[in-house]
Amino acid sequence: MNKEKVGKFYDVVWTEYIPEYEESEKHWLMFYSPEEVSGKTVLDSGCGTGIFSIIFARNGAAKVTGIDISPGSLGTARGLKEKFGLANAEFQQQDMLHLPFADASFDIVWAWGTVHHTTDPLGAVTELIRVLKPGGSLFLAIYKRTNVTWIHEIIRKMLVRTPRWSWNGLAKVMAFFLSPIVFFFKRRQKSRKGEKLSELILDWYFVPIRHYYTPEEIKMFLEKKGFVIEKYLAHSGRFNSSSNFIYKSLKPA
Ligand SMILES: C[S@@+](CC[C@H](N)C(=O)[O-])C[C@H]1O[C@@H](n2cnc3c(N)ncnc32)[C@H](O)[C@@H]1O
Repeated sequence: MNKEKVGKFYDVVWTEYIPEYEESEKHWLMFYSPEEVSGKTVLDSGCGTGIFSIIFARNGAAKVTGIDISPGSLGTARGLKEKFGLANAEFQQQDMLHLPFADASFDIVWAWGTVHHTTDPLGAVTELIRVLKPGGSLFLAIYKRTNVTWIHEIIRKMLVRTPRWSWNGLAKVMAFFLSPIVFFFKRRQKSRKGEKLSELILDWYFVPIRHYYTPEEIKMFLEKKGFVIEKYLAHSGRFNSSSNFIYKSLKPA
């Protein structure tokens, strides 16, 4: 599996997917404030359709650079930038494993739900650290490995081998059978109006590359690089999702 497949996947699955602005901003405010980002340069790595780039830009960042490998998602992000009339955000098609930015280019590096979709998640974090200024802030939301991750992975590895044309149909059939279980066990808040369970299933089970980590693994990785953990959340809380954990940490000055 390679990054082109991931880019194409997000072109299909996420291009129309703009998470709800106000709810996303509420979650953003759990980690940053307008005072903290005012005048800062920000990299939104794996920006997708750009919601967090827009939030940083609207909260006073001097310049936000959103990068992603999915041209379709970037097209949507550029449309959002126009909609909000922002001059301080730009979007580029780049691979976060090989960023074209000099060392120490950004004050804040934000990566929500992205490094685990690369071929080398810890390599991606290392690259994000490279472009972060000393004393800068690194935000990571990463899929958590749990006792049932292996079951999800068996299902995903079977499903990614099915022909692409069948994915929407398969996701709808799975949504039909899984909806009673989801109804009883999980009250996930919808991330946007009209969100369907079949879309979440597509994102969860059909994505070509997906890695999982324990919070301890990432903490050790960051601390070895001298980072100081500022904030840790065992669950992302974004739309009541429990699939990600979060670290906000500070690069040594
Ligand atoms: C689950 S989406 C998250 C989007 C956005 N961060 C958000 O929270 O709304 C993951 C994104 O990571 C991007 N991505 C995956 N691998 C990448 C890579 N190697 N370089 C840049 N972006 C990548 C995908 O194209 C996709 O848009």
